[in-house]
Amino acid sequence: MNRLDGKVAFISGASRGIGAATARLMVEAGAKVAIGDVLDERGRETVRAIAGASDAAIYEHLDVTREGDWNTAIAATVARFGGLDILVNNAGLFLGKDVEEASLDEWHRLCAVNLTGVFLGTKLALPALRERARQSLHGSAIVNLASVAGLVGSQLDPLYSMTKGGVTLFTKSAALEFARKGYRIRVNSIHPGVIQTDMGEQTFAARARHHGTNDTDAARNVALGTHPIGRLGVPNDIAKGIVFLATDDAGFMTGAGLVVDGGLTAQ
Ligand SMILES: NC(=O)c1ccc[n+]([C@@H]2O[C@H](COP(=O)([O-])OP(=O)(O)OC[C@H]3O[C@@H](n4cnc5c(N)ncnc54)[C@H](O)[C@@H]3O)[C@@H](O)[C@H]2O)c1
Repeated sequence: MNRLDGKVAFISGASRGIGAATARLMVEAGAKVAIGDVLDERGRETVRAIAGASDAAIYEHLDVTREGDWNTAIAATVARFGGLDILVNNAGLFLGKDVEEASLDEWHRLCAVNLTGVFLGTKLALPALRERARQSLHGSAIVNLASVAGLVGSQLDPLYSMTKGGVTLFTKSAALEFARKGYRIRVNSIHPGVIQTDMGEQTFAARARHHGTNDTDAARNVALGTHPIGRLGVPNDIAKGIVFLATDDAGFMTGAGLVVDGGLTAQ
């Protein structure tokens, strides 16, 4: 179950956090993995930690907002591993400002990474994903990192919520487009609750600021209280869901959203 032997994956924003945990699980499941990020040194460290002396993972510099970076990174992945079966559009930014505070420049930056980055990744990885889909039994897979903030409103960051809502519906629309065209590429999204990563810390800082303090421990406890399961998430909670969506075990899923949020949106 959940094996990725012989598969090749590209994960954006995987130098740290959820992406790095996903890269590790995918390598453990038998895949070859390329990591693309703007944090070059951290990304190379992550590759060393995951793959050791093996050739199971590589790092490629990638700013997801740049078409040229995507073309170079995907071409390098295909040249190294012989093809591409899985794309994880994971790179993302959080802002933590409300409508009155946020500037137009901040909105443009958020859109560039959270929306344009997903569009470009999907568009520019498509030829390689289609090529492998023709040869494999169950086709290729794209997994997009949305959020619970792409399903319900966000008190902390309405602009982030707007971008993640876009990712949610782009996922469904791309799934329908590729199915209509007979491409054999499944497209699904995953919707994490609050996960303890650098971005998770940014949400605690934003929550504290909204309450007029810098007490991030108190803010973390408030966030914890919104998760009925009684804990916050860790990167592996989400990585396991992403691996599932990427494997043939999810072969009948496309255009779906997998909610992994400790019950947050069940309320
Ligand atoms: N942590 C959470 O609570 C949470 C909740 C819901 C959804 N998510 C989503 O999960 C994904 C991963 O988040 P995380 O918690 O691991 O965050 P993180 O900040 O730890 O990691 C994000 C990664 O994206 C990279 N990145 C940022 N801009 C980039 C760019 N222009 N090009 C390439 N890489 C870029 C960063 O360098 C970093 O390595 C994001 O899309 C995020 O929105 C996170």
